[in-house]
Amino acid sequence: MSDADAIKHVASPLARQTLLDSSLTRPVAGRRPIRLLPWLQVVKIGGRSIMDRGAEAILPVVEELRRLLPEHRMLILTGAGVRARHLYGVGLDLGLPVGSLAPLAASEAGQNGHILAALLAPEGVSYVERPTVANQLAIHLAAARAVVGSAFPPYHHHEFPNSRIPIHRADAGAFLVADALGAAGLTIVEDVDGIYDADPRGEGGDRAKLISKTSAADLARTTGTLPLDRVLLDLMPTARHLEHVQVVNGLVPGRITAALRGEHVGTIIHSGAMADANAA
Ligand SMILES: Nc1ncnc2c1ncn2[C@@H]1O[C@H](COP(=O)(O)OP(=O)(O)OP(=O)(O)O)[C@@H](O)[C@H]1O
Ligand SMILES: [Mg+2]
Repeated sequence: MSDADAIKHVASPLARQTLLDSSLTRPVAGRRPIRLLPWLQVVKIGGRSIMDRGAEAILPVVEELRRLLPEHRMLILTGAGVRARHLYGVGLDLGLPVGSLAPLAASEAGQNGHILAALLAPEGVSYVERPTVANQLAIHLAAARAVVGSAFPPYHHHEFPNSRIPIHRADAGAFLVADALGAAGLTIVEDVDGIYDADPRGEGGDRAKLISKTSAADLARTTGTLPLDRVLLDLMPTARHLEHVQVVNGLVPGRITAALRGEHVGTIIHSGAMADANAA
């Protein structure tokens, strides 16, 4: 065999397989992925529920996060809030496709992140852009106890066109990155005690009951409003690491701290997928 022939042979266990047949790929692709950052706590701060409320809500949350720094290493991700709603309104009126709206809303989420990072800067916390989260999170978290980023995933023009408003927003983005990193946990911070059987701030909200524990599958069967991206309920059963997320009230001091310590202080949503069950 000449050298020219030899270099064409790249040994790969998948070289002769179609990637379309999971029974053939499972021996190679069916293993649980490694946890990249197993000590990481991901905290999603609501854009509408916390950031839009201004100093009154933000400063106590910043103080709580500051106190958590010696205890946890965190990726703090912010949602978009009211400015993104305005942007969707203008963009939809102009006929922009969903993939054009997604990065604009993501940058609004990023602005909220810049605000949080500025307030935590004395502790060494800074805002990082998505490529840094993707490639250099480990080095940043070796230098600082936490970093802040936009919670939106980078779908851009790859956003699914089945809705005019991006379906993968801050909750979906936070979940996808937390699971991909093999994080220890994801806490979603809202302005309500958790998920209720109806909007507690809507009409008749005083009769709404808090759901303390549920699963993504059970929530997916509900038809009412939720304080989460609905697509999250489709994503959760595909998780490889995160077995649950907790939704907590950031307006009540101590709830974020308790959640990161593993205490049940809001609504726990089970992913419903054990990592090995959905392999391949
Ligand atoms: N079933 C429900 N349980 C609890 N809250 C609900 C429910 N349905 C609607 N809500 C409302 O959702 C609100 C939070 O809204 P939303 O989730 O859009 O905010 P956010 O997470 O801060 O926004 P963003 O996604 O931009 O970060 C709560 O204040 C509550 O009134
Ligand atoms: Mg929410």
